[in-house]
Amino acid sequence: MDSRALAARILSLVLQEKIHLDSACSEIIPATIESREQAFVMELSYGVLRWYYRLDFFLNRLLNKPVRRKDTDIKALILCGLYQLAFLRTPAHAAVSATVNATVHLDKPWAKQLINAVLRRYQRESATIEQTLNNSETALYAHPQWLISALRDDWPGYWQNILNANNQKPPMHLRVNLQKVTRAEYLRLLAASNIEAVPVAGLDCAVSLIQPVDVDVLPGFAQGQVSVQDIGAQHAAALLDLNPGLRVLDACAAPGGKCAHILETQPALASLTAVDRDQTRLKRLGDNCQRLGISLEIYHADAGVAEQWWNGNPFDRILLDVPCSATGVIRRHPDIKVLRQEQSIGNYTDQQYRLLESAWSMLKSRGRLLYATCSVLNQENDQQIAKFLKNYPDASNIDMIQEWGLKTGYGLQILPGIGDADGFYYAVLEKR
Ligand SMILES: C[S@@+](CC[C@H](N)C(=O)[O-])C[C@H]1O[C@@H](n2cnc3c(N)ncnc32)[C@H](O)[C@@H]1O
Repeated sequence: MDSRALAARILSLVLQEKIHLDSACSEIIPATIESREQAFVMELSYGVLRWYYRLDFFLNRLLNKPVRRKDTDIKALILCGLYQLAFLRTPAHAAVSATVNATVHLDKPWAKQLINAVLRRYQRESATIEQTLNNSETALYAHPQWLISALRDDWPGYWQNILNANNQKPPMHLRVNLQKVTRAEYLRLLAASNIEAVPVAGLDCAVSLIQPVDVDVLPGFAQGQVSVQDIGAQHAAALLDLNPGLRVLDACAAPGGKCAHILETQPALASLTAVDRDQTRLKRLGDNCQRLGISLEIYHADAGVAEQWWNGNPFDRILLDVPCSATGVIRRHPDIKVLRQEQSIGNYTDQQYRLLESAWSMLKSRGRLLYATCSVLNQENDQQIAKFLKNYPDASNIDMIQEWGLKTGYGLQILPGIGDADGFYYAVLEKR
């Protein structure tokens, strides 16, 4: 199958069926594909979504009438063509002719002429069209307007940094399993494999790779010496203040990145209970635990419905890494820009608050709850904690003294574009 046609099919699943980009890639990319071709399909699919709002703006200036909904694959193919011309170094004539020819693989040869005309017109008029970018914030920043406005309201001094950072390709960070190998030793193993990497200051197990690589080439990966995890996510374990003998709950645990880090940080816990309601993601958690050689109690359940899984024995520590808008991780998941709707934020905040209330009821007196999101929206972060503190007089907010993140009213916020991490929010509550 032709790579451009594969990318067009992936993109139309995302744009039309609202399927997540990683699921669409797994569904469409054949297992037999060569790795170089697979990388090109991913480049096109991720790149088009990263720049979707700008490319769509170009397209609207190049077409006389919009592409019909049933031809979303053709629209996606044109966007792939525009992406190559505007953002990749593919020679223009090759980009145009290969994109035109891909119509055959979509069984739509009638679209050849249309695609040829649009791409050639872009080549002629790109300078003029690009001058009009300043007329549209959506096109200029390549984000939906509601999100641009929300970020401007929440982060008046930082919103443009955040938007620009969201449009970059993400770095690859590793978490070294200090139970198996020291970071210095692991850096030597990387160097011996010709993988350039540097330690990350302020996190004793974090490593940043100069160039992303396939996990299969990471030394000791299969043996659990290392995991892939953004440095923003690597702060959670330390904030839980883990000591031997504690009973810990990870209430929204899958696929298990923070959960595994908890046990790597403190293997002498009395117990670690992991709950998640998504069976597919829990399977990944199980695979990760097996690879890392750790064991824990796992429940497939709604963490907010205690009677489904809880035995009534309270926890000393709870990590509540709630489902959220994921607006802090857009550079890794650019499909969020097109899939997330402003109206869906209210659903997240309702769920988050429900989970927070229920987790609180399972926390021991003097116990600690860490509320975490990968969101940069105040609604999901400080506003939730403010509401909770108002309604629960037995909750107190612990001040975090950290050398990272921005101090907010009740927690710490890491913003994309300030440092190298994804966007995360953390707040610590203690039960009086
Ligand atoms: C931000 S992700 C967790 C990431 C995870 N802590 C990690 O570090 O790998 C949020 C998780 O919450 C789960 N979830 C959503 N609603 C839930 C609920 N009511 N009960 C339990 N898990 C839930 C989702 O399936 C998702 O896996």
